[in-house]
Amino acid sequence: ETDLEKGFEALRNGEFILVFDDDDREGEVDMIIASEFVTPKSIATMRDYAGGLICNCLHSDYCDAIKLPFMTEIMQAACEKYPDLEKLTPNDIPYDERSSFSIWVNHRKSFTGITDIDRATTISEMAKMMKEERFEDFGKTFRSPGHVCLLRGADGLVKNRRGHTEIGLAMCEMAGITPVCVVCEMMDSKTGKATSIEDACKYAEKNNLVLLKGEDIINAYLNI
Ligand code: 5RP
Ligand code: CA
Ligand code: CA
Ligand code: ZN
Repeated sequence: ETDLEKGFEALRNGEFILVFDDDDREGEVDMIIASEFVTPKSIATMRDYAGGLICNCLHSDYCDAIKLPFMTEIMQAACEKYPDLEKLTPNDIPYDERSSFSIWVNHRKSFTGITDIDRATTISEMAKMMKEERFEDFGKTFRSPGHVCLLRGADGLVKNRRGHTEIGLAMCEMAGITPVCVVCEMMDSKTGKATSIEDACKYAEKNNLVLLKGEDIINAYLNI
C-alpha cells in the first residue's frame, strides 16, 4: 500500500492526513480531514496540535451551486460604496497569485460559533448539505459573519492552483468522498514559524498519520 493509498483510506475513515505543500510555496504542513466526519474532538486536535486557522474548503462545483464568491469579489463589488477598499487589493501575496478565501459562516444552531461543538457543527453540516445536494438550504442553515472561514477551491482544482485548498479537495475526490475538507496549518510556538517538515514528520510517526507531499498528490490527480 502506497502512502497515497494510506491517505485515501485515512480520509475515508475520518482521520487526519498531513500535507506539505511545497518549498516553492508556503512551505507549510496542514492537518487535513474530510469535513463530513468532523467532530468536536477533531476541532480540539487542530487547536492543540496544529494551531493555525481552521478553514472549510469547498469544491468549486459546490461553490457555483450555492453562488459563493471569493472574498475579493465581494470587496470589489463593495468598492462602489466604499472606494478605499480598493487599496486593500491583495496583489502582493508572496507565495501565490490569489488566495482562496471566501466568507466566514456559523451554523444557525451555534451559540458563539467558536466552541469545538459549534465549529464541528458548522463544518460537518456544510459537508452534509453538499453531499445531499440541499443547495437551497445554504442561507437557511448558516449565518455570516461567523467563525469558520470558507475557502473556495479553484476550478479544475490543482490544475489551476496548487494550494492546500485544492490539494485537500483533490485528495477527497480521489478517495471517493464528498469534496469538502478542513485544513489547518501546523504552527510551532517555540519558533513562531510554521512547523518544520521534520517536526511534522515526528508528529506523524508518533500519531500513526501519513505525511504527504503536495507534489505527489498533484501528480496523481493530473494522471487520472
Ligand atoms: C488558510 C490558509 C492556509 O494556507 C490553507 O492551507 C489554505 O490556503 P492555501 O490553499 O493557499 O494553501 O491560508 O488559513
Ligand atoms: Ca495560506
Ligand atoms: Ca465572540
Ligand atoms: Zn496552505
